Amino acid sequence: MKKFNPRKRKVARKQSPNLLIYILPTLLFWVLFVPRINQTVTYLFPSYQETLNITLKTKHEEIDTCAGRYVYIHNLPSRFNEDLIESCESYAELRNKCKYLVNSGFGPPILEDEHNHTVRVLTTETDSWYSTNQFMLEVIFREKMRHYECLTNDSSLSSAVFVPFYAGFDGRRFWGYNVKLRDELGEDLAQWLRERPEWTKMHGRDHFFVTGRVGRDFRRVSDQDSDWGNKLMRLPEFENMTMLSIETNSCSNEFAVPYPTYFHPKTKTEVRTWQRQVRTVQRRYLFSFVGAPRPEMEESIRGEVIKQCLASQERCKFLNCDTPSKDCGNPVKAMEVFQDSVFCLQPPGDTTTRRSTFDSVLAGCIPVFFRLNSAQYKWHFPVDHTKYSVYISEDDVRDGKVSIEKILSMINEEDVLSMRNEVEKIIPKIIYAKPGAVGPEKNEDAFEIAVSRVLERVSSLFKNQDNDQNLGMT
Ligand SMILES: *[C@@H]1O[C@H](CO)[C@@H](O)[C@H](O)[C@H]1NC(C)=O
Ligand SMILES: *[C@@H]1O[C@H](CO)[C@@H](O)[C@H](O)[C@H]1NC(C)=O
Ligand SMILES: *[C@@H]1O[C@H](CO)[C@@H](O)[C@H](O)[C@H]1NC(C)=O
Ligand SMILES: *[C@@H]1O[C@H](CO)[C@@H](O)[C@H](O)[C@H]1NC(C)=O
Repeated sequence: MKKFNPRKRKVARKQSPNLLIYILPTLLFWVLFVPRINQTVTYLFPSYQETLNITLKTKHEEIDTCAGRYVYIHNLPSRFNEDLIESCESYAELRNKCKYLVNSGFGPPILEDEHNHTVRVLTTETDSWYSTNQFMLEVIFREKMRHYECLTNDSSLSSAVFVPFYAGFDGRRFWGYNVKLRDELGEDLAQWLRERPEWTKMHGRDHFFVTGRVGRDFRRVSDQDSDWGNKLMRLPEFENMTMLSIETNSCSNEFAVPYPTYFHPKTKTEVRTWQRQVRTVQRRYLFSFVGAPRPEMEESIRGEVIKQCLASQERCKFLNCDTPSKDCGNPVKAMEVFQDSVFCLQPPGDTTTRRSTFDSVLAGCIPVFFRLNSAQYKWHFPVDHTKYSVYISEDDVRDGKVSIEKILSMINEEDVLSMRNEVEKIIPKIIYAKPGAVGPEKNEDAFEIAVSRVLERVSSLFKNQDNDQNLGMT
C-alpha cells in the first residue's frame, strides 16, 4: 500500500490519516470513476468550523468575549528590545531619534507656546498631542499590546503570538555596516523563537511583529555590503511570520499599518471633538504641500509639484521642509497648514508612502495621491480610493501635462464635501490612541484594527494548515 502513484496520492492526502487505511481502496476506485469525489469526501469528516467550535467550548462554560482573540506575548530577552533603546545614544545612526522614545514612543508632549497658538490649532486638551516621530511604531505598538484586553499567559490558549522585537532600531543602528553585523540579531531571534514550544503549533505562522520602518529595509537581495538593509524577512522563520510595517512590498506576509500621527487621545469623546473641529474649520487654501524637494532623485516629481504650488500663489500653501527654520518639523505648524487646506498633495519621497498622508487625513484634508500604491493601507482606508482621495498620475505631472490647480479646482463642491466626510470617518481608524480606556470610551483605533486582522489571518492560515497537515501525513 505504500507505493501510490502521484495522482492517487494527491486525493488520498485529503483524508484524516488513521481512517485512510479503511477507505483507501474505495477512494482509489472513486478517484478513477467518480468525478465529484472531493465534495463527497468532505461530508465524511468534521469541518474546520466544527473543530474550532470544540476548541472554543472547552475551558469556559460562560461566554468568553475573548474567545478566538487571545494573544500571547513572547517574553523576549532584553537584547531584542529594551537594550536597543537603552543604548540608543551610542549608535550614531540612532542618536537623533532617542528623544522621541519617551512616553512609550509617543515622544515629548506638545506644550503651550506663549501665543496660545497650540490651543488654536489643536484641541484644548493638548495633553493628547505629542511630537511623535514617524519611525516609532514598534515602540508604540508594544505598549499598546501590553494593554490589549485579551492577553493570556497560557500560550496554548492563544490565537496569535506577538513578538516584541524592535526590528527597525536593530536595522537602523547598523546602516552602512557589513552584512554580518546587520543580520546578526535577526538570526539570533529566529533561533530563539524556533526553540520555543510555541513555535511547534504552527511553525511561526501564528507569530507576528511590528516595525516602524518600511518593508524593504528587511529584504536585502544579496549578501553584498553595498546592498540595502538586512535580510530579516528572508530568514525561513520570518517567512512564516506576519510583519506589520508602515510601508510594504506587497509580499504575502507583510501588511501596511498607518504611520503614527501626533494625536493620541484617550477617549472616543476626544476624537469626536476633534472630528467636529476639522469639519467646521475654515480652509483658506485650495491645496498645500508640506515637504522637501528631492533634487538628487531624477524621477521625483516633487520639484514640479513645488513649482506648481508656488505658481498658484494664494491658492496653494508650501511649507518647505528643506530650510533651517524647522517650521516643517513643528507639529503645530504642519497641522495648521493641513487644517487650512482642502487638498493635501502627497507625492512620493524617498519611498512611495508618506507619514504626511496620515497627518493631513487627521486634519480633515483630502489627500491627493500620485501613485495608487501610496494608499496601500487596505485595512484602514476605504477600498475605493476615489471616495476619499484624488489621484493624479505621476507620469502626467512629470511630463508637465497637467495643472494640479486646474484639476483640483474643477472638482465640484458636492464631491469635495462627500470626500471630506469620508476622510473624517477615517480619522479614528488611523490614530494610535493612548492605552487604558475601557468600555464605550475605548477607541477602535489603528492598533485594534490591525490586531483583529492579524487574528483573522492566523485563523485562515490555521485552516489551511489543517489541510496541509493531512497532506503531509500520507
Ligand atoms: C458553532 O457553535 C455555535 C454556537 O454554539 C453554533 O451556532 C454553530 O452552528 C456552530 N458551528 C458549527 C459549524 O457547528
Ligand atoms: C492664553 O490662554 C490663557 C487661558 O487659556 C489666557 O489666560 C492667556 O491670557 C492667553 N495668552 C495670550 C497671549 O493670549
Ligand atoms: C502574566 O504573568 C505575569 C507575571 O506573573 C503577570 O504580571 C500578568 O498579569 C499575567 N498576565 C495575564 C494576562 O494573565
Ligand atoms: C514554515 O512553515 C512550513 C509550513 O508550515 C514548515 O514546513 C516549515 O518548517 C516552517 N519553517 C520553519 C523555519 O519552521
